[in-house]
Order: sequence, then structure tokens, then C-alpha cells
Amino acid sequence: MKIYLDTANLGEIREAARWGILSGVTTNPSLMARETGADFKETIQEIATLVDGPISAETVSEDADGMVREGIDYAAWHHNVIIKVPSTTDGLEAVSRLGQQGIRCNVTLCFSTSQALMAALAGAFVVSPFIGRLDDLSQDGMELIREIAAVYEQNPEIRTRILAASIRHPRHVVEAALAGAHIATCPFKVLQKCMRHPLTDSGMASFLADWRAREVDMALAGASAG
Ligand code: G3P
Repeated sequence: MKIYLDTANLGEIREAARWGILSGVTTNPSLMARETGADFKETIQEIATLVDGPISAETVSEDADGMVREGIDYAAWHHNVIIKVPSTTDGLEAVSRLGQQGIRCNVTLCFSTSQALMAALAGAFVVSPFIGRLDDLSQDGMELIREIAAVYEQNPEIRTRILAASIRHPRHVVEAALAGAHIATCPFKVLQKCMRHPLTDSGMASFLADWRAREVDMALAGASAG
């Protein structure tokens, strides 16, 4: 499974890109709104210089004509830009019209297997089931990933990739991988937590303490020999 970063924050993207694990970036209007004063086009183009992989830029129109208009505009910004459209009938129309022009789409705000199936049939490049927001409603977000994966598996003509979104913690990442997601898009804090473990910290502390004690012992032994 591949990892994307779910942010429009360039500092976070720069840091995670250095770790060598990033295959793409997803943004959305809420994430862009957090970057006060940042220009959308410039941000997307800067991200494209930091990460060599799909970068999702989301449309804000509610009708297919507007989504197609925005999609054509965004796709001209960089060849790695993927157009994010919502899981609506207008979104489907936009996916199929943009697809005719060779423009790839991410069908977002997916909360059901029927939406994911329709998105695939329209030719979506990726579909984004939102795990955390379903969990918030006491529904099993991971079950949605499992069901979509099973449906796609049984229909080999479907090429759409499953991009697990609304990831809230490292267990979501692991469970999404087990459930059949091809990609998980994670907030920066979740990616950091994926590499944290108290036993790693205490293990490093004791290794370093032992090494320093050894150096002191050797220095003392050298001094008494001299
Ligand atoms: O990629 C979509 C994702 O950002 C939504 O996450 O945490 O707002 O549900 P969240």
C-alpha cells in the first residue's frame, strides 16, 4: 500500500518527503483554508516540486460544467495534478467528461460501496472512502474499505484504486492496508505517530546510556594505565 500526505502545508510536505515514503499528496478546500493567505495554484505547483506523484486538487463547483471547467484549469498546472470531485451524479459526469480529455479524477466524500462502484464505472483514477467520519457516526469505516475491495476484486475490468481517507490514527493505516486499500492518505501527525513507540524511545535511551558509560570506563582505564 502507498502513503499519501493529506495536507496543504508545505512545511509538513517538505519534511515527510525527506523520509522517502511519500507517493502523493491530497488537499481539500478545508486544508487549503488552513494555509492563510496561500495561493491555491502556487501551493499545488510548489507541492509538485516536492513530491513526484499524484497531487489531488479539489473542485468547489456543485455542477458538472463547473467541475469540468475547474478540472481543466487545475490539470494544466502540472501533469501530476488529479482532480477531486464529490461523490454526486454531477461528480460522475465530471469524471467521465474529464476522462475523455485524459484528465484523472479522485472521487471524494465516498461513504458507500454503491458510490465507489459508480465512481469506478465512470472511470475514476482513485476513489476516497472516508474512514474516520464513518467511525465518528458509530459506523465501521474499515468495513466500507473491505466491501469496496471485494467488489473491485470481483470485477477485474475496474482499474480504480482505493484511497483510504479521513485517517485518524496509525491503526487506521494498518487496517486499511489489510482491508485492501491501495493507498492511505494521512495527516502529518498520523504519519509521525506511525513511527513512534515507547519501547523504541526507552531502547534508544538505554543503548546510548550504556555506550556513554563504556566510554567513561575506557577513559578511566586509559588514565590508570598511563
Ligand atoms: O482526505 C480527506 C480527509 O482530509 C478528511 O479527513 O479528518 O477531515 O475527516 P477528516
